[in-house]
Amino acid sequence: MLAAEALAGLALEAGGYYVDATFGRGGHTALILQALGPEGRVLALDRDPEAIAAGRDRFTDEVRLTLVVPAHAHQHPCRGVLFDLGVSSPQLEDPGRGFSFRADGPLDMRMDPTRGEPVSAWLARAGLDEIRQVIATFGEERFARRVAQAIVARRRTHPLESTAELTALVAGAVRTREPGKHPATRTFQALRMFVNDELGQLERGLAAALEVLSPGGRLVVISFHSLEDRAVKRFMQRESQVDPALGHLPVIPAEARPRLKLIGRKQRPGAAELARNPRARSALLRVAERLP
Ligand SMILES: C[S@@+](CC[C@H](N)C(=O)[O-])C[C@H]1O[C@@H](n2cnc3c(N)ncnc32)[C@H](O)[C@@H]1O
Repeated sequence: MLAAEALAGLALEAGGYYVDATFGRGGHTALILQALGPEGRVLALDRDPEAIAAGRDRFTDEVRLTLVVPAHAHQHPCRGVLFDLGVSSPQLEDPGRGFSFRADGPLDMRMDPTRGEPVSAWLARAGLDEIRQVIATFGEERFARRVAQAIVARRRTHPLESTAELTALVAGAVRTREPGKHPATRTFQALRMFVNDELGQLERGLAAALEVLSPGGRLVVISFHSLEDRAVKRFMQRESQVDPALGHLPVIPAEARPRLKLIGRKQRPGAAELARNPRARSALLRVAERLP
């Protein structure tokens, strides 16, 4: 998604070292590798061990690529970091991962199934108000209270363990029908973002990217959710200004100087991409450059 714009944003240099922080199935990584010369390198990360395994199969002979889970990544100065946030198509399309309301499967939704707890376990123990708040905040769901009440009423008699059960429950609780949107979309998105701590991971990922980018290096972020984009926008704005606490000093100390320069305005997919891929409609791309 937004692949041409992301590549342009990275301003690739043939011999540069780049980080694809959200490898997925390697669509962006493949394009970056194509544009690099023999000296270029890509470090690709994904918190989903299945993505790493599939990527190792796909890129077996690619010596310029290192593919690991984030915990195994070495810090190395680089010319660009790309984030393409959210869930990948293979994650969504595998009913066994529990991300989709379109197919029945275990109610899991973890991007890294070796850590944390599945959505079913959290829904079995969370309080009504906690569930309401997660669905209202991350799903921007008007009927969050009704959905939370339905979940709590159901679990008194029967544990909620499958995506089909949750889908049916939400469809009964959500009164409006948004055109082109399944009534369970907002609830599933909210639970996924919560159980994977996606906003917390994003904050930490952006801060880590800033540390490894060399001067002139590019930070490119594609987001799908208004809360994600808001976090990216605020981070880039904050880092592109003098620290307000020290801005009054006659000589601005190095640690208070801006670390990023904004490049261009936010970009959306063009009409051709939207016609090919309706899922791209909420994608937004922002670019910034690391200052010396
Ligand atoms: C939208 S997909 C990326 C698609 C990819 N750009 C491609 O071309 O195939 C997002 C991927 O990022 C991973 N992911 C999400 N948050 C992550 C994080 N904090 N750290 C590492 N990987 C993450 C997900 O597991 C998923 O595979």
